[in-house]
Amino acid sequence: MVANPSILFPDAAAQAGAVSQAQHSERLLAVDSVNLEYRTRERIVRATHNVSFDVYGGDRFVLLGPSGCGKSTLLKAVAGFIAPHSGTISLDGEPVRGPGADRIVVFQEFDQLPPWKTVQQNVMFPLRTAKKLGRAEAKERALHYLEKVGLAAFADAYPHTLSGGMKQRVAIARALAMEPRVLLMDEPFAALDALTRRKMQEELLRLWEETHFTLLFVTHSIEEALVVGNRILLLSPHPGRVRAELNSHQYSHDSFGRIDFQRSVAHIHRLLFGETEAAQ
Ligand SMILES: Nc1ncnc2c1ncn2[C@@H]1O[C@H](COP(=O)(O)OP(=O)(O)OP(=O)(O)O)[C@@H](O)[C@H]1O
Ligand SMILES: [Mg+2]
Repeated sequence: MVANPSILFPDAAAQAGAVSQAQHSERLLAVDSVNLEYRTRERIVRATHNVSFDVYGGDRFVLLGPSGCGKSTLLKAVAGFIAPHSGTISLDGEPVRGPGADRIVVFQEFDQLPPWKTVQQNVMFPLRTAKKLGRAEAKERALHYLEKVGLAAFADAYPHTLSGGMKQRVAIARALAMEPRVLLMDEPFAALDALTRRKMQEELLRLWEETHFTLLFVTHSIEEALVVGNRILLLSPHPGRVRAELNSHQYSHDSFGRIDFQRSVAHIHRLLFGETEAAQ
């Protein structure tokens, strides 16, 4: 389908480990030769061209690429908000036909929380409506996930009284509380300052260590992709095409200053933008 990841990074032993680990878990999401288009009155914009990838249970799968490579469009298609022009997207072997509680999206914007609901009510709402949980059960689960993101003390606060990072934590708690098959995140930390962004990445990884949820994460930051992801799909723009797929499970925030990490950053930069820009 795409390039063998072990060709891309020299750390062959580690690569082999990750690949076999992925193969041992079940395939949850299959995106196969997907073409996505926007049709306006004047023209047709092709957002992705024949994009294919598989996400396995417990993967932290990252879509990485520059602006316009179709990352958000792909995520919306997986979420079921838009249908492929051709190709298929399936979850647990069933074609995706529309939005569902098995795929929950966390967006970049801080205003994803209805402002008239408290933090707890925000987390409870989809549990009551989509999951049909009773009030007591929804409340208990909401508090459980608010504790996980360190916001139990703010359960009765209203969103406008929270910082951007705290609002994102509520959005993450709300998404995790739904216990989706795949958690979809579209640049969830891009609007945060650098320190908060790093803290949120660490928190997300800590939450993942606890429950090993399956994550499909969109970013245009190479460093963020390497730290957050265990597998990365590189996309080039206009229209979005797969450039390469590679493994990145060996990196954490501690890797930042290391030479192998810097090499991987440069390597990805070259794959995305070519030799000249990487050298600048
Ligand atoms: N509503 C729309 N109508 C028409 N074209 C669109 C629409 N949304 C996106 N596009 C086009 O589809 C392509 C992919 O856009 P998309 O938003 O998926 O890119 P992206 O990789 O998420 O970019 P960014 O990093 O800027 O968020 C682009 O060429 C864009 O101009
Ligand atoms: Mg986008």
